Amino acid sequence: MKLIIVNDLKAVGLRGAELVAEEIRKNQNLVLGLATGGTMIPFYKSLVNLFRKKNLSFLKVRSFNLDEYVGLNGKDKRSFRYFMDKNFFSKVDISKRNIHFLDGNAKNLYTECKNYENEIGELGGIDLQILGIGKDGHIGFNEPGSDFNSRTREVLLRETTRRNNAKFFSGKEEKVPKKALTMGIATIMSARKIILLASGKSKSDAIAGALNGEISEKAPASVLMRHRDVAFIIDKNAAAKLRK
Ligand code: GLP
Repeated sequence: MKLIIVNDLKAVGLRGAELVAEEIRKNQNLVLGLATGGTMIPFYKSLVNLFRKKNLSFLKVRSFNLDEYVGLNGKDKRSFRYFMDKNFFSKVDISKRNIHFLDGNAKNLYTECKNYENEIGELGGIDLQILGIGKDGHIGFNEPGSDFNSRTREVLLRETTRRNNAKFFSGKEEKVPKKALTMGIATIMSARKIILLASGKSKSDAIAGALNGEISEKAPASVLMRHRDVAFIIDKNAAAKLRK
């Protein structure tokens, strides 16, 4: 495990984007797993800057997003698909047909999840997975208690997660969907390389739990300690509770 501690959220995003750029320069056909959430906004800004200023191209990159809310379609402003279109896809040269997304409005959610796993497999698996972390240590939408063997599936969201994500639903927790589709823990762990980004005091318990705690299904991110190529890029506040 590699731990990189930087000053603030902006620096987290920049460092993360630089690492992604390095991987794309090595392999322009990279299969890239992507994440959403507030932490990711400066990260996507930095990637867009690299695209504009440094000739970084996403033309041949294939992307798979981690998760999506059940019941929202991709045009809904609160969907993760919309978030990605707005903050990243519309601003770079990624080809539409290379973007893969879970459809939270699919008729059969079980088949939707199965197909997603198949699509990832058909492209040879994820080369690099970007992750954020929930205050309760969730990755993707794999809440505490998620089976380490889980694959892409429908899940129930915890209250803490819905409260945190209410910021994207005009602050109204009751408007946050109760269910979501998410890549599973085993899906995430199958990625060849993983980079987790975190910022702020509110994430310090989750970070300490992942890095210093027991590897346990109670702390989903702790499973990453079993991965052979994982980097945590976090700011000082998120690192505040790490054992010295
Ligand atoms: C959501 C996403 C997670 C993300 C988390 C943190 O729950 N499903 O993938 O890590 O939000 O979001 P934020 O960066 O806004 O704290």
